[in-house]
Amino acid sequence: MALTGNWVRVAAIDEIAAGSALGVTVGDLNLAIYHLDDGRVFCTDNICTHAFALLTDGWMEGTTIECPLHAGQFDVCTGKGLGAPIEEDLKSFPVRVEGGEIMVEIAN
Ligand code: FES
Repeated sequence: MALTGNWVRVAAIDEIAAGSALGVTVGDLNLAIYHLDDGRVFCTDNICTHAFALLTDGWMEGTTIECPLHAGQFDVCTGKGLGAPIEEDLKSFPVRVEGGEIMVEIAN
């Protein structure tokens, strides 16, 4: 993956159908990239904060992703947990799309 400062290219927008999510790894990070129906793109940690499950193995509808393990839900735009059993929000990462390439800012 090409590194530009703290911005990392994670995928091409064409790799993620609108209304779906893609799991990627950047170093030790497991990230979920969300491509909303309205074209916006967001990124959060992909590992559920409740126990160990990859959110991209779950179900996305609108701006909500549902964990496949215990059905906890998060807002993909903010990482905010949306009720039990989730007690901790997901970390979210800034995203920009340039020339069809999705870039995520990873803090050092
Ligand atoms: S591991 Fe995700 S809701 Fe339990």
